[in-house]
Amino acid sequence: MSDFFRGRRLRRSATIRRMVRETQVTVDDLIYPMFVLPGSGVQEPIGSMPGQYRWTVDLMVEECRRLADIGIPAVLLFGIPEEKDARGSEASAARGAVQHACAALKQSLPELCVITDVCLCEYTSHGHCGILSPDGEVCNDLTLHRLAEVAVSHARAGADIIAPSDMMDGRIGAIRDALDEADFLNTPIMSYAAKYASAFYGPFREAADSAPQFGDRRGYQMDPPNRREALRELAADYDEGADILMVKPALAYLDIIADARAAFDAPIAAYNVSGEYSMLMAAVERGWLDLERSVMEVLVAIKRTGADLILTYHAPDVATWLARR
Ligand code: PBG
Repeated sequence: MSDFFRGRRLRRSATIRRMVRETQVTVDDLIYPMFVLPGSGVQEPIGSMPGQYRWTVDLMVEECRRLADIGIPAVLLFGIPEEKDARGSEASAARGAVQHACAALKQSLPELCVITDVCLCEYTSHGHCGILSPDGEVCNDLTLHRLAEVAVSHARAGADIIAPSDMMDGRIGAIRDALDEADFLNTPIMSYAAKYASAFYGPFREAADSAPQFGDRRGYQMDPPNRREALRELAADYDEGADILMVKPALAYLDIIADARAAFDAPIAAYNVSGEYSMLMAAVERGWLDLERSVMEVLVAIKRTGADLILTYHAPDVATWLARR
C-alpha cells in the first residue's frame, strides 16, 4: 500500500478537474478599459497596445453594444482632451469626451455599467495628476477641489461609478462630500487605493498621451517595495467612503491583493495594467506564448489571490472564450 498523497486522482479527467476547481474567472468579474476621443468616425489603433484603440463616442457605443452582447458588465473610460492646460480644465467640461460618452452610453445601453477614471494627467499640459505649485510640486490640497469637480461632472453626465486614480491624500473624502452635496448619494466610488509608481503604465501613457513632461509620479504614487504601507492607503480610502478598493498593477502586486482581501470586507478590484497586457501580447505576436492559455492563467491568478473584479484589456477576448466553453 502506498502511504503518500495521490493528488493525481483528481486530475485524471477534464470533468473531474472542472468539478474540483477552486477558482473561476467569470464574465461578471471583467471591467474593460477604453479610451475616448473627441469628434466622430474615428477608431485609432494604439501602437503600444496591439488590439486596443482610441474611439470617438459614436464608434465606442457600437463597440460597447458588442461587448454588452457577449456579457461584459462594465467599461472604464479614459478621456483624451482637445486641449490641455495647467489645471486640466477639460477634465470637468460638461461637453468633454468622457462626459459625452457617459451620456451616449447610458442612453443606448442603460444596463452597461459605466465607470469613469477621475484624474488630471491626461488633461494637464505638464502631464502630472494634480495642480502644480510655483516650484513644480504637485499640490495635494489644491488638487482635491479639482478632482471633486471632475467627479461631479462625470456623475452629472450619467457615470455609474467614479474611479479616482490620482493618489492625492484625502481625495476619497473630498469626492464623496462633493458627490453627496450634488445629490449623487448613490454613486459608488471605486478607489485606486494602493496604486504603485510602476514601469508597467508605460504603454498606457502613450495611449492616453499622459506622460509627465518633467519628473515622475514617485512623489504621489506608492513605492514598489512597500507592503505594509498599502494597508494604510487602503484603510484611508475605506474610511473616507470608498465602496470598492483597487490594487494596481496586479501581477507584480499579488501579495497586496491578498492583504487587501484579508483586511477589508469591501469588494477588491485589481488592475491588469497596460504593460502587463503589452508584454504578453508581444510574446504572443512572436509565437512564444499561447494567447488564451496565458491570459486565462494570469486572470485566474489575480482572482485566486483575492480580487473580485479585474480591470483588463483582455476582457473582450476573455468574454468570447468563456461564452464558448
Ligand atoms: C491616470 C492613470 C494611469 C493608469 C490608469 N489611470 C496612468 C498613470 O498613473 O500614470 C494606468 C493604466 C494602465 O497602465 O493600464 N493616473
